[in-house]
Amino acid sequence: MTFEEARARFPVLERFVYLQAGSVGPLARGTLDAIVEEEERGLREGRGSFTAFERIVAAREELRAALAGLVGADVEQVAITASTTDGCNIVLHGLELGPGDEVITTTDEHFGLLGPLHASGARVLAIEPDPERIVAAVTPRTKLLALSHVLWTTGQVLPVHELKAATGLPILVDGAQSAGAIPVDAVGLDFYTVSGQKWLCGPTGTGALVVADPEGLRVGHPSYLSQQAHDPDGTFEPKEGARRFDPNLTPPEHVAGLLAAIAALPEWRFERAAATAERCRELLREAGADVVVPDERATLVSWRVPADESAAAVARLAEAGVIVRDLPGRGLVRASVGWWTSDGDLERLVKSL
Ligand SMILES: Cc1ncc(COP(=O)(O)O)c(C=O)c1O
Repeated sequence: MTFEEARARFPVLERFVYLQAGSVGPLARGTLDAIVEEEERGLREGRGSFTAFERIVAAREELRAALAGLVGADVEQVAITASTTDGCNIVLHGLELGPGDEVITTTDEHFGLLGPLHASGARVLAIEPDPERIVAAVTPRTKLLALSHVLWTTGQVLPVHELKAATGLPILVDGAQSAGAIPVDAVGLDFYTVSGQKWLCGPTGTGALVVADPEGLRVGHPSYLSQQAHDPDGTFEPKEGARRFDPNLTPPEHVAGLLAAIAALPEWRFERAAATAERCRELLREAGADVVVPDERATLVSWRVPADESAAAVARLAEAGVIVRDLPGRGLVRASVGWWTSDGDLERLVKSL
């Protein structure tokens, strides 16, 4: 599949410079077709027939395997969730931390991770996203490292495997800005979340959680899908593997949509996205923007503006058909550069600053 063919699948790119996959990726025509086809089938054949259930279960297992393949996990280690936030909540409900426990996170995390951390009742320490400082912050009370693989603020990549090795602690990795954007190997990490709607260009309300040792985490947030048998008092026998953590029956049309989106991912996506993000940083710098350039970086490109002007900067770009976002309170505007982004897109972004 050539770049032009891959790009042509996204109707939004015909009109807009769409640089917002860090929030929600562009939707491909084929993904929508798969969603509609599945809805139509329900309309014609009934959504709760025996054959419909058989098909839904088979499609879920197909999706579980596809998601596992994307992050190097075993299919038994993957739960199908609705979001990264879902994954963080499942892990933190299961770990049963309390006020005597400490969790180390960074100063640059999204509420999708921070909210579940706070609700856990553990003491949350937010450390600058510097690997040495993170390791130095560990105490005997530290029970978990919980941080992003790619920071949503600056696109900085954290060395999650090295942090795990250096501390020996369980690690919960927020993969919202990594899965689909950069190569991910979840092997060796305890918990890894995936958002389907961002860099995988799937439907909203899709995602995954990889649990390295499913039997080692309590099912703290059970759903009907968690059990293979249960007693009248709710005592239950969990399903095999990470299926026990599936928090809900993802709408079957969204399962079909995410499967279609994953099947259409071009092989060259990571190289192309990394090179285009670098080009974006270069062009922005040449145009005088104060670009944040972390040593290790992914496909989010941020530049500094006065904090009270970031919303206006985004609105100005939107008027020119360039869709980016600001990070409120941080004085940053962020462009999400994907494998579908063209040189023309970058030129329009820079011209519209
Ligand atoms: C780093 C990070 N974590 C979590 C989230 C929330 O993702 P989801 O909507 O899949 O829960 C986001 C979304 O922007 C994010 O950037």
